[in-house]
Amino acid sequence: MHIDILTLFPPMFQGVFSQGIFKRAIDQKLVSVSLHNIRDYTHDKHHTVDDYPYGGGAGMVLKPEPIFEAVESINRESATPVILLTPQGRLFCQQIAQELSGYSQLILICGHYEGVDERVSEHLATDEISIGDYVLSGGELAAMVVVDAVVRLLPGVLGSAASPLDDSHVTGLLEYPQYTRPTIYREWPVPEVLLSGNHAQIANWRREQAIQRTLKRRPELLDKAELSSEEKSLVDKLR
Ligand code: 6GU
Repeated sequence: MHIDILTLFPPMFQGVFSQGIFKRAIDQKLVSVSLHNIRDYTHDKHHTVDDYPYGGGAGMVLKPEPIFEAVESINRESATPVILLTPQGRLFCQQIAQELSGYSQLILICGHYEGVDERVSEHLATDEISIGDYVLSGGELAAMVVVDAVVRLLPGVLGSAASPLDDSHVTGLLEYPQYTRPTIYREWPVPEVLLSGNHAQIANWRREQAIQRTLKRRPELLDKAELSSEEKSLVDKLR
């Protein structure tokens, strides 16, 4: 997958792409990233990227010309989505991450200031994504979130041990609690069943913990989770 990111602040991405799973994925050529500075596509002496909103009001609006020219400078495959990161977008979730992981190229536009000229969303972007119901000062952090969630789904990026199929929000349940050594830390023991070596019992316990936790913290998720009839009666009992 190749990812093109249009931003006013390319250095913001350097930390994310130079560490951990991301660095490995780039080193192994499973993904490549190009950062495009929107300011490089201005033509005036002051490299102006924003201007006052028509109709008045607070703040500045990103001008359309540099954004159109930056996207048009990219070698774009015909199917490639052009995604504007904006609080007005559709709400990002695991299913959208999966959908995006199927493309060989993504183009992400990071919005800024009070907004982006509407002609970008009308005539350039093919998709608009928000990462949640709160306002960030720019689309960069949102782009990092989207890219992280997508890249870890690409074949070969996670080791074979960790399967994205078991992730929360894929199974529709929150994850069960995890423990590692020591078996007793500050008098807080690891649940007995996990030390039992009885794999069927452990699997049952984990499934039940996942259901209980989901019911307590995110009950709305249970409506979409795939539960056996036994598990459904467990939910009814716990409710
Ligand atoms: Cl994509 N951008 C901004 N500026 N704020 C957000 C967002 C995006 N998603 C949630 N809040």
